[in-house]
Amino acid sequence: MSGVGTEVWGVCLLTLCFASFHVTALKPQLFTIRGGGLPSSSDPPISYKTSYFDQKIDHFGFLEDGTFKQRYLTADQHWQRPGGPILFYTGNEGDVTWFCNNTGFMWEVAEELGAMLVFAEHRYYGESLPFGPDSFSDSKRLNYLTSEQALADFAVLIQSLKKTLPGAERSPVIAVGGSYGGMLSAWFRMKYPNVVVGALAASAPIWQFPGMVPCGDFYKVVTQDFAKSGFNCDTNIRESWKAINNVSSTAPGLQWLSEEFSLCAPLKNKMEVAAFKGWLQETWVNLAMVDYPYPANFLQPLPRWPIQVVCKSLSFDSPVSDYQLLHGVSQAVKVYYNFTGGASCLNTSQTATGSLGVLGWFYQACTEMVMPMCSDGVQDMFEPEEWNFQAFSDECSSMFGVRPRADWAATLYGGKDIASHSNIIFSNGGLDPWSAGGVTQNLSDSLVSIMIPDGAHHLDLRYSNDLDPPSVRAARALEVQYFRQWIRQAEKTR
Ligand SMILES: *[C@@H]1O[C@H](CO)[C@@H](O)[C@H](O)[C@H]1NC(C)=O
Ligand SMILES: *[C@@H]1O[C@H](CO)[C@@H](O)[C@H](O)[C@H]1NC(C)=O
Ligand SMILES: *[C@@H]1O[C@H](CO)[C@@H](O)[C@H](O)[C@H]1NC(C)=O
Ligand SMILES: *[C@@H]1O[C@H](CO)[C@@H](O)[C@H](O)[C@H]1NC(C)=O
Ligand SMILES: *[C@@H]1O[C@H](CO)[C@@H](O)[C@H](O)[C@H]1NC(C)=O
Repeated sequence: MSGVGTEVWGVCLLTLCFASFHVTALKPQLFTIRGGGLPSSSDPPISYKTSYFDQKIDHFGFLEDGTFKQRYLTADQHWQRPGGPILFYTGNEGDVTWFCNNTGFMWEVAEELGAMLVFAEHRYYGESLPFGPDSFSDSKRLNYLTSEQALADFAVLIQSLKKTLPGAERSPVIAVGGSYGGMLSAWFRMKYPNVVVGALAASAPIWQFPGMVPCGDFYKVVTQDFAKSGFNCDTNIRESWKAINNVSSTAPGLQWLSEEFSLCAPLKNKMEVAAFKGWLQETWVNLAMVDYPYPANFLQPLPRWPIQVVCKSLSFDSPVSDYQLLHGVSQAVKVYYNFTGGASCLNTSQTATGSLGVLGWFYQACTEMVMPMCSDGVQDMFEPEEWNFQAFSDECSSMFGVRPRADWAATLYGGKDIASHSNIIFSNGGLDPWSAGGVTQNLSDSLVSIMIPDGAHHLDLRYSNDLDPPSVRAARALEVQYFRQWIRQAEKTR
């Protein structure tokens, strides 16, 4: 998907605009970023069929009658037809094959349940572009990039599959998703209970919207991960921002900093230093998301428990000079960017993001997905930064010509008043910053929250591994138990 004509936006977003803190605030909102992440060679081989479905560009109005090709993947090796269940992945902000390859849980469960797997791509990502890549520079065409349209795509696709696939007519369908895909999976069950019998929403921050959770909780979780992974680790990161400000205040200091961090492009001015700090902050956030108990390659190739490895370079027990402290920081970030030893320099406009996913997600964040974040430097290890909706809105207006609607997600999806719904599992990792906006309490007998204290971002959706903590094994077992219960319920009511 490279070579998509988004260079102009890409440059603006990732380098120039990135210096402004509003956009820095936008960036961590891209939770499941495209990049590496092939299953390791020990994982069972994945084999699926790729198909395309003619979807309405606009499900909700009747004047735009055009269609686009939505990509979806199917795997029916284990499917017990007729009537065997269908596990349906509600695709998120990226190439659906990547999510498919990174959702080993579904592949492992398919055999157990005799289920067919379907992975549906989210419109405007991967190959499923209603208007082609040029629509990213024409915000009128982005008008149809909404979660409601995406959910309608999923519903229409499932209804069609049930009609056309021999043996699928009476198959109960269960939605599965992680991250934004997990939010979609939960909302899908809420909006289309006639289409899916239940949903697994893994690491889905459906409450990271205005007024639902404190805006500082996200960065608090990141900080706690570092605090418990090594002596003084969070304290020294908290000190590092001042050290960067001090050292970068002179020309030789700037040069030293650029060389110490092996930056591809030396830092030239205050604005670039601000962007550099944003890049470091994003690196710590990403590490918190992928703090997995075994070596993995989700955003970057990393060792097991990568934050513990990072913290080894940051365990100073008494005040050290700014230079010593920043040397520790540079060693620490190189664990993230150079674990394989292949990096010749560090590029502060990259944290393992693919530009197309970023663009689409920026647009979604600038419309429906308003997710307040803030830091105070006391309860977290970051520089104080308030949530400023107006500034955020202005940034969106200049980027896309649209203004976010802060309360729309709550109106549309119920906010915290969702107890009347049923059959949704919300799983959360205790190490995952996105758990701050997740459902972490049971809301009813059938709106169940499963906590995985040692889990990072949707660890439960990944392939099982010998190094998995007991909490994630238990979570997966409970998830399958609920799947079986929903399938039985569906059979009874048929
Ligand atoms: C996912 O796996 C398939 C089959 O192994 C491969 O062809 C495809 O390139 C992978 N996709 C990504 C994004 O890694
Ligand atoms: C850094 O990454 C950006 C965005 O991917 C790219 O355009 C740029 O060429 C890279 N810079 C260097 C020096 O590698
Ligand atoms: C601040 O920077 C100056 C010059 O770069 C350096 O001499 C001084 O030691 C630094 N301050 C601290 C507290 O390290
Ligand atoms: C990455 O690691 C290799 C091997 O240790 C080293 O030669 C190289 O200089 C490192 N790159 C950076 C940017 O630090
Ligand atoms: C919710 O209920 C389930 C089933 O009784 C239980 O296993 C789980 O621990 C509960 N979740 C929380 C967060 O208390």
